[in-house]
Amino acid sequence: MVQNQQKLIHTFGALAELGHEVAHKQNFQEMIRTSLHLLLGSLAIMRGGVARYSRFGHELNMLAVRGLDEDFPLSLSLCYEDERQFLTNGLNVIETSQARVLPFFQVYDCSFEKKRVELAVPLVIRDEIVGLILLGEKANGEPYTSDDKEIICAMARHIGVGIAQRNLMAELERRVEENRRLYDDLRMTYKDTVKAFATAIDCKDKYTEGHSVRVGKYSEIIAEELGWDEDQIEGAAVAGYLHDVGKLTVESKIINAPYRINAKEHAELNKHPVIGYEILSPIHHPYADVPLAAKYHHERLDGRGYPDGLYDKDIPYIAKIVALADSFDAMTSDRPYKRRRAANEIVADLQQNSGKQFAPELVTAFCRAMLKELTGEKKDKKFRRMLGKDYLQAEEIVPQLKSALNGMSATSSLTLVSLD
Ligand SMILES: [Fe+2]
Repeated sequence: MVQNQQKLIHTFGALAELGHEVAHKQNFQEMIRTSLHLLLGSLAIMRGGVARYSRFGHELNMLAVRGLDEDFPLSLSLCYEDERQFLTNGLNVIETSQARVLPFFQVYDCSFEKKRVELAVPLVIRDEIVGLILLGEKANGEPYTSDDKEIICAMARHIGVGIAQRNLMAELERRVEENRRLYDDLRMTYKDTVKAFATAIDCKDKYTEGHSVRVGKYSEIIAEELGWDEDQIEGAAVAGYLHDVGKLTVESKIINAPYRINAKEHAELNKHPVIGYEILSPIHHPYADVPLAAKYHHERLDGRGYPDGLYDKDIPYIAKIVALADSFDAMTSDRPYKRRRAANEIVADLQQNSGKQFAPELVTAFCRAMLKELTGEKKDKKFRRMLGKDYLQAEEIVPQLKSALNGMSATSSLTLVSLD
């Protein structure tokens, strides 16, 4: 009686420990190994092994073994009939000597015989085979009692649940990875489409070739300098690429007029922000505010822009970024009726218009990014690539940038409006 009680206490202890193992061990292999040792130890079983079932390969792969020699197969195949029988059997002990009718026990008879594998427990969890436990003889040589078998089943259930959980996690990880890949593909497609649109917009205007693409890149530079995260930077670039999409509906002869267009033509051209907004807003963009950048990229802080004549704080931030990028590209591109001015003059212009047309914080960020490239603090050559290295004469423009940065406070309030 006392001996039975002690055995019971010992078994419960092992079971509790097993439960803890399954619930808390991060390392799956280690959890299985420890669980097998607990199972063997609690009933003084000489040897055994735990295998995980692969539904795709129809095979049981050994995860942990103890006392089974190297020549014991580490991978055991199951045929359809074995699977069916295991499922019918459920998570119950099978005596190998009684199960020789099953192909599985016929195929591995020699190995089981040699290692005296007496019991097999299919780990059937929620009507699915997740593994198998094989057990050798008891150390005292006695046959397994029905109590022993109950204990084995209880412990096997814990191990089976551990494997099922692991399978679930692996499946979840696989799906997350698959989703991530799908999302990346989708994002790539979106970006390619955006670039194709930018090229289409730029094709319409033969005098400002590559304008949208450059505005996208300048917007990206500003967002980077503001310390935005990767997604936001990409969003700013997209907003720049698409800001003039409304021009697709404006007559080519107006866009390509080799002279200064008249008031009527201006009115026609000035519809492009609103049209752009109408084109872009029904589309679900992965980045916020892309349509708003199109609509408000010609607004000015002092309220003298269009289409709505908004004042500083009413202008969406992304539109302010694109407005600066857009104007900078317009200033640094040759037009049929006007050649571009020297870079230092343009920087002076930005400084002068900071707080009137452009957000001071953004002009500062833009100038800082240019200065970093020209002084070598930044290794990339984004500005040089877009403007040509001969255009950016460091000796002239660096002092100009420094003085511009000294003259403007990086923390200037964006609500500053000069009305002169
Ligand atoms: Fe525009």
